[in-house]
Amino acid sequence: MSAHKITYPVPGAVMKDAHVSGMPAYRSLVAEADADLGAYWGRLAREFVSWRTPFAKTLDVGSAPFFKWFEDGTLNASYNCLDRHVERGLGDKAAIVFEADDGQVNRVTYSDLLARTCRLANALKTRGVKKGDRVVIYMSMSVEGVVAMQACARIGATHSVVFGGFSAQSLRDRIAGAGAVVVITADEQLRGGKQLPLKAIVDEAIALGGCDSVKDVIVYRRTGGQIAWDALRDRWMHEETETQDDTCEPEWVGAEHPLFLLYTSGSTGKPKGVQHSTGGYLVHAAVSTSWTFDLKDEDVFWCTADIGWVTGHTYITYGPLSIGATQVVFEGVPTYPDAGRFWQMIQDHKVSVFYTAPTAIRSLIKATEANQAIHPGRYDLASLRILGSVGEPINPAAWEWYHEHVGGGRCPIVDTFWQTETGGHMITPLPGATPLVPGSCTLPFPGIAAAVVDETGNDVPNGQGGLLVVKRPWPGMIRNIWGDPERFKLSYFPPELQGYYLAGDGAIRDVETGYFTITGRIDDVLNVSGHRMGTMEIESALVSCTALVAEAAVVGRPDETTGETICAFVVLKGPRPTGDDARRIAAELRHWVAKEIGPIAKPKDIRFGDNLPKTRSGKIMRRLLRSIAKDEAITQDISTLENPAVLDQLMERN
Ligand code: WT7
Repeated sequence: MSAHKITYPVPGAVMKDAHVSGMPAYRSLVAEADADLGAYWGRLAREFVSWRTPFAKTLDVGSAPFFKWFEDGTLNASYNCLDRHVERGLGDKAAIVFEADDGQVNRVTYSDLLARTCRLANALKTRGVKKGDRVVIYMSMSVEGVVAMQACARIGATHSVVFGGFSAQSLRDRIAGAGAVVVITADEQLRGGKQLPLKAIVDEAIALGGCDSVKDVIVYRRTGGQIAWDALRDRWMHEETETQDDTCEPEWVGAEHPLFLLYTSGSTGKPKGVQHSTGGYLVHAAVSTSWTFDLKDEDVFWCTADIGWVTGHTYITYGPLSIGATQVVFEGVPTYPDAGRFWQMIQDHKVSVFYTAPTAIRSLIKATEANQAIHPGRYDLASLRILGSVGEPINPAAWEWYHEHVGGGRCPIVDTFWQTETGGHMITPLPGATPLVPGSCTLPFPGIAAAVVDETGNDVPNGQGGLLVVKRPWPGMIRNIWGDPERFKLSYFPPELQGYYLAGDGAIRDVETGYFTITGRIDDVLNVSGHRMGTMEIESALVSCTALVAEAAVVGRPDETTGETICAFVVLKGPRPTGDDARRIAAELRHWVAKEIGPIAKPKDIRFGDNLPKTRSGKIMRRLLRSIAKDEAITQDISTLENPAVLDQLMERN
């Protein structure tokens, strides 16, 4: 494959003074890691992280795949993100420039953030939260959300942030799965001028049962909207914290102590609680934030992700703060009050490094076509130095637009491939070193042994697609699936793959450059607007509507704006509906899925059949369903199909 033709060289202005400057510097880091992986990461761990007790061990492979990094070292993540910057005189530096949905701006210094974190940490301790306890955080984008995460880290409690768009049912599953003792939430969230419930959903989740572990619900007052109150369980955050001391001795934890759990979708069954460590994770977060974004003291970084996803963990709460950067945190949405909001904010806050998702770029391209007044060219974006992309493949057309119209042709785009499980960047350009090719995430981060292999774990030649694996451990890697070590081993280190980490994506390397291109998930995981969802999860939500649904199959359909959309094929218990009936029931099922999982999981397209296409042995022919979803002519062999007549039914759109 030589699809990689247009190459963008590293701009001289970026290469000069870059943390990793030029290809030889990149190669020498790769060589250092190749020569001694433990020593390489050990050096970085000492440079980027402050340890309470220094580690003597670097990497322990003895209990693979339960790898351990820096195991005998102790540290505190919140100390690393806050205190040490104050101690070196950066207390008055802005840690967070918060812009609210309505445009109000709040500048929070490192000293402020430390004091607020300590007060909440003390409040949690007063409520009896101890090292190792789990705390669920169900909040929208706010300084308080970041403070809540830092406060947990400070006292050694393991946080589990649940994205504010998940339903009561999903929240209940995550609270119960983690056995959380406290839930931290807000009365409501403000997005795009609308007040949306948060606390009411926590109430509903707890009422669903199975959350007996929860002793307290701490509520940040964001909007002052009407909410129900349980005097025995609910506490206002401002009342809990106002009497607390603004210092709090950090709880020094071992490097392998679980910093957080983050539930993510897999190809089978319920979402899994990805467990991350403190030491290794923080090392990966700090080094990658520094190198991939080439952050300097004077930079203003803005990652538009939500703290409910891993990007918001690593590249908002932990990475930028661990290296003492200034960052913008945004409460709202890119289209409110208009689709020029991102560019307006870059201009207002003089953002120099901007990190967002391809789906956002594509939807803003569309919005610009409809309204030239919000074209990025109408704003002063001269402060920008580096652009980033994350969450899904960025198509070359969107890349070029981002590069030309947002970056003014002078800003490298770092297309960062990574996952909830990897903790930090895995394959990405380094802006001062890597020539860019649109559509390729280029080369592995130094120290990451990414490779493309066949089903038995053997390398495939460049130019030939295969499975993306990582051959050697890295500090930020997933440590376990919470409460399910067997599933951890089988999902990520399947026996046939020679002990390699299986990413779940397909990839291909360019013949000439060796550059990686991610070809998409090879399992039943969908990526809709950068949100990860399992087809099985949506199928179980549909069939849990037992009054209506007999059977359901869900597939992804490629979509120009959102990457993929969800397409569901449903067999009802009653007769197959058509016309208005079909549309009404489809709407009802969409609503059902939103209630079961969350609005992000709503199938866009629902089609009804008397049956699903199955082989004579009863297996649903998913490949066939994928073609039907795309309205493609069927080229597959359907001779083994038990019931060919249903195909015509399933081709009908509602
Ligand atoms: C999946 C992981 C990485 C944090 C946000 C998503 C896809 C992610 C890229 C990219 C191509 C990408 C993969 C991956 N993905 N970044 N730059 N190019 N694909 O984390 O929710 O765990 O999803 O997102 O399919 O496996 P996640």
